[in-house]
Amino acid sequence: MCSQEGEGYRLLKEYANGFMVSQVLFAACELGVFDLLAEALEPLDSAAVSSRLGSSPRGTELLLDTCVSLKLLQAAVRGGKAVYANTELASTYLVRGSPRSQRDMLLYSGRTAYVCWRHLAEAVREGRNQYPKAFGIPSEELFSAIYRSEDERLRFMEGLQDVWRLEGASVLAAFDLSPFPLICDLGGDFFKDPLPEADLYILARVLHDWTDAKCCHLLQRLYRACRTGGGVLVIESLLDADGRGPLTTLLYSLNMLVQTEGRERTPAQYCALLAPAGFRDVQCRRTGGAYDAVLARK
Ligand SMILES: C[S@@+](CC[C@H](N)C(=O)[O-])C[C@H]1O[C@@H](n2cnc3c(N)ncnc32)[C@H](O)[C@@H]1O
Repeated sequence: MCSQEGEGYRLLKEYANGFMVSQVLFAACELGVFDLLAEALEPLDSAAVSSRLGSSPRGTELLLDTCVSLKLLQAAVRGGKAVYANTELASTYLVRGSPRSQRDMLLYSGRTAYVCWRHLAEAVREGRNQYPKAFGIPSEELFSAIYRSEDERLRFMEGLQDVWRLEGASVLAAFDLSPFPLICDLGGDFFKDPLPEADLYILARVLHDWTDAKCCHLLQRLYRACRTGGGVLVIESLLDADGRGPLTTLLYSLNMLVQTEGRERTPAQYCALLAPAGFRDVQCRRTGGAYDAVLARK
């Protein structure tokens, strides 16, 4: 019999179960399901997958069938048994070493971001990141939390790189950068270290980590180091003018709450950070992808 409940109840179930879908994806990457099926010479049955991964037969079968339902795997029947293979989606985005692989980003999301998101209600209540509860690291020590081990630093950087490989080109094409002969992509400890002189500084996925006060301090440093006529290119996911969309950017902003000191911002909020530092001619361009671009001139 069909449920008497309407669209509201359907949406509620979809939202409530969303974390289970994420976990299926994270677990299948973590266990190496997609890498195993990519390396296998033919589709494998569930017993072969569980024996090669060293996972339980029952858990493996349930995970594989759920992946089929999510279109991450495809199943066929051979000799009366279900055999599994990667779908095109999995071959493209989930297999280690594929040029468009997002596997490292998913591993990072599952092992680190998700653990902080577990404490979202506390993050909202306290207004600060959840490294203390998630990993026993004081919330003020952002650098030592994000880079708490060499393994973790590499995992984070590889995850960022996965996304950049897919999104970077459209962000860098948002403005004509040919007027800037010397471009510096800022990393390292730019709050303290002397900044190299350049025509254009790129701040990619940096300002969203920090409070307005720290962003202003960093932008003032950049303005002083920047050659006259130069500028700064800020690469972030832009909120709508009213701050109430797009949903993905709002979720990224909550991610900044649980993991950093910062937030995602509207174009007007970026202008309000850039102008007091001395930057002018602030232009914002949306790319339609995960990240947008803001260019300002000295
Ligand atoms: C989210 S990563 C972005 C890296 C790169 N721009 C990208 O888009 O892939 C943040 C950058 O801020 C730098 N950083 C500087 N000071 C930091 C601090 N105190 N805590 C965390 N990150 C810091 C890191 O070295 C890193 O390069």
